[in-house]
Amino acid sequence: MMDVGRHPNIKLHTYSEVESITGFIGNFKARIRRKARFVDEKQCTACGDCVKVCPVVTPSRFDIGLSTRRAIYIPFPQAVPASYVIDMEKCLGNNPVACGKCAAACEKDCIDFDMRDETFEVEVGAVVVATGAGVVDPTHLEEYGYRRYANVITSLEFERLVSAGGPTGGEIVRFNDFQTPRRIAFIQCVGSRSKKTGRPYCSNICCMNTVKDSLLIKEHYPDVEIDVFYMDLRAFGKGFEDLLQRSRGRGVRYLRGLPGRITEDPASQDLVLRWENQEEGGRVEDRSYGMVILAVGLEPRKDNERVRGMLTLSKTSDGFFLESHNKLDPVSAPTRGVFLAGCAESPKDIRDSVTQAGAAAARVLRLLGSGKISIEAVTARVDPEKCNMCGLCAKGCPYNAILVDKAKNLKATVIEAACAGCGNCAATCMHGAITARHFTDAQIASQIDAIFADSPQEKVLTFACNWCSYAGGDFAGVSRMQYPPSARLVRTLCSARVRPDFILYAFQKGAPVVLVSGCHLGDCHYIKANHHTLERIERLWGRLERKGIRRERLQLEWISAAEGKKFQEVMCRVDEIRKSVTLAEIAATQEALSQEKVRVGV
Ligand code: FES
Repeated sequence: MMDVGRHPNIKLHTYSEVESITGFIGNFKARIRRKARFVDEKQCTACGDCVKVCPVVTPSRFDIGLSTRRAIYIPFPQAVPASYVIDMEKCLGNNPVACGKCAAACEKDCIDFDMRDETFEVEVGAVVVATGAGVVDPTHLEEYGYRRYANVITSLEFERLVSAGGPTGGEIVRFNDFQTPRRIAFIQCVGSRSKKTGRPYCSNICCMNTVKDSLLIKEHYPDVEIDVFYMDLRAFGKGFEDLLQRSRGRGVRYLRGLPGRITEDPASQDLVLRWENQEEGGRVEDRSYGMVILAVGLEPRKDNERVRGMLTLSKTSDGFFLESHNKLDPVSAPTRGVFLAGCAESPKDIRDSVTQAGAAAARVLRLLGSGKISIEAVTARVDPEKCNMCGLCAKGCPYNAILVDKAKNLKATVIEAACAGCGNCAATCMHGAITARHFTDAQIASQIDAIFADSPQEKVLTFACNWCSYAGGDFAGVSRMQYPPSARLVRTLCSARVRPDFILYAFQKGAPVVLVSGCHLGDCHYIKANHHTLERIERLWGRLERKGIRRERLQLEWISAAEGKKFQEVMCRVDEIRKSVTLAEIAATQEALSQEKVRVGV
């Protein structure tokens, strides 16, 4: 932190919050709010005279409420800058009766009660999101009695307890009698790997954190007995297995199975864990401990949604930010010029976070150092003659890559550096003003023409998005999975490129059934573009039904790149639907749609 603070090329904005970010790769504008410290950080020498006279005592957030601080305080021992800040919500100076003792005690006149928050803008070329993760609050897990029993604590609270700079100076003591416990239990996977808590993922760090904590305890208190209750132990990193064996070697017992309930002995205030011994045929045992440490998992930060909105990021179903590609591009966000580092992307330990942060910094350097960027040629282009400035394209663009303003007579303009080429705008535009390069209406219409040029009743037209469904089809192919020869695929970059007109055009050409397939909702490679696909298909189902066309003749399926099997099953099922469509039904559909104005650029 000190090194960062001193680095000539790094400007630290401490005690500040990013309020908004606009712009695109190479041209981001961040609006930052610098909160008032009420202390001049340049003058403050952190002498501590103010703290000595401050009468307000309040729980310390850094010590997770295990110790207290004053209303004027340094947030944590190694804070940069090492300057005091006043917590105005707690300070008496904020009340009608002003205290002002700190101001009187400060020889350098650093205290300024009139200081106000400031906002300012900075221009940056790239953004690294390293907002970290939150920690699961186990209060709602009734069975563990956290907050009900004083000596049930979380692993984070234990970190403060065992720290030499912590509230007890590193002494491990019980909170009811301040004695060192003779027996300590760790319970793993608290809040992780559980569908019940809504966090089915592994938090990645808890096993090794417990192993490290057990060794710390053994170092200071060799006679303390330690039991670790676990489902699986995951010691997969460099040197981790070694550490686990060292812990076992020091007498730490690792017991498979999680306790079902904790109760407290009212006399001794010892904690009794009811546990099913899975290694001895599921025998239920009660074990008594002086302290229980819950190895709590990580969860996405509560304010992730705000960051996601500012940078048009995607989230995984777990709530962490989605990377561009899990294996090939795990550092970039889908929005160009935005990179991810640390637990904002997924739970990870310090080593992995540092690795990802280094990679993100290198990507930023590469981007900014080159002075220019190369983009894919697959971007949208607007014909200003046809644009009537309705703004629908800009509203639906997942990347905010289209500028349009009717009031200023600004016709739709594509920021090519920000455009990812999903084609959603081209599918949205009612006036045919937008062309998706390399996936133009005319090109797609030509493919439809070719498919239905002969024996249309024997074909199933499938629109497949490049990243998931098309790859799923590929996977089915290379895995030699058989599916009916009726399948005809038209590749688009995203399912959101599929204009309803393409589907109507196919029915006009005699298609018995049309399938639109894309990535699962939440997995779209263009943030949330496939939500527009869903809306369009739902509207089209209603339209077809009003024309007397069976709804099942238009199918929508989400197939991922790994779902070759699903691709095969869907193709077989859709082919059965095809067989059920008679020539008379096809003719009736063509008749019903003959008056429809279908615009496909031909
Ligand atoms: Fe597959 Fe959008 S990229 S649906």
